[in-house]
Amino acid sequence: MSAPGETDRPFAGRVAFITGAAHGQGRAVALALAESGADIVAFDVAAKIEYPAYAQGSSAELDSLVAEVHALGRRALAFVGDVRDSAAIQQAVDAAVAEFGRIDVLFNNAGIVAYAAADKMTELEWDAMIDVNLKGPFLVARSVIPVMKAQRSGVIINNSSVMGLRGGNRLSHYVASKHGLTGLTKAWAIELAPWGIRVVSIHPTGVNTPMNDGLAELEGATAIEIAERSAGNLLPGVPWIEASDVAELVLYLASDRARYATGAQFTLDAGLLTR
Ligand SMILES: NC(=O)c1ccc[n+]([C@@H]2O[C@H](COP(=O)([O-])OP(=O)(O)OC[C@H]3O[C@@H](n4cnc5c(N)ncnc54)[C@H](O)[C@@H]3O)[C@@H](O)[C@H]2O)c1
Repeated sequence: MSAPGETDRPFAGRVAFITGAAHGQGRAVALALAESGADIVAFDVAAKIEYPAYAQGSSAELDSLVAEVHALGRRALAFVGDVRDSAAIQQAVDAAVAEFGRIDVLFNNAGIVAYAAADKMTELEWDAMIDVNLKGPFLVARSVIPVMKAQRSGVIINNSSVMGLRGGNRLSHYVASKHGLTGLTKAWAIELAPWGIRVVSIHPTGVNTPMNDGLAELEGATAIEIAERSAGNLLPGVPWIEASDVAELVLYLASDRARYATGAQFTLDAGLLTR
């Protein structure tokens, strides 16, 4: 029989490192993991960046996330940093290990999106997309993997997209970055299996987060129009899914219940890819 609290707090004693945690999916996942017993390390740029032009997360959101995790009875650390900044990442990982002693789950989630026609795209746009969405997860994993290897356990969950499995109009840099992340997932799964580290990617369709609002603002459209443009989901009346739906999937994949899930792609798309 399970000890009291064991089943409703399966992440008790575990530590999750989450990038892009200030708002959107990262925040939802951080809170879901904390509710399930995990201590949280939140890493976010928490400032406007050069590209794309929409608002990113904020320090106030990071502060309120820490307060909410504390209110759930868990510990939390927040770091302001860019996933393109290897020194800031290493500092955060070192501080997290000094405080908590381990990292069990890495949710490589920070990402950006924007439209650009292939023949109009600037090098800055291409580089920023690839650097944040593909190089960033590499840099974060590079710092976290030694911690997981030393523990001989860990789970890395890369937040790709349906665009990591299909094409998208005027999204070639985004699509390329997300397909790259799918590839990283497969390669890392093979390489890290000997240390008991699992690596998976998730592939949501449009999610109702500030990212969609940002894209809508850049395009002069509504967030629902943006979601329907790229998805037009199967389920009636569903232009997008919610961050809480993504959190449910991540909770499963990060848990021991998913012990044989590695190297695989997990789609959450309301039926989009089957059409
Ligand atoms: N929203 C969608 O429709 C959707 C669908 C599928 C996949 N995704 C992917 O899911 C992930 C999360 O998306 P979201 O919808 O929560 O986005 P969001 O824009 O709502 O939140 C992204 C978070 O990442 C942070 N961030 C952005 N650039 C960063 C950087 N360089 N360094 C550190 N932090 C940075 C932001 O400050 C923000 O808090 C992204 O990788 C995105 O590509 C999003």
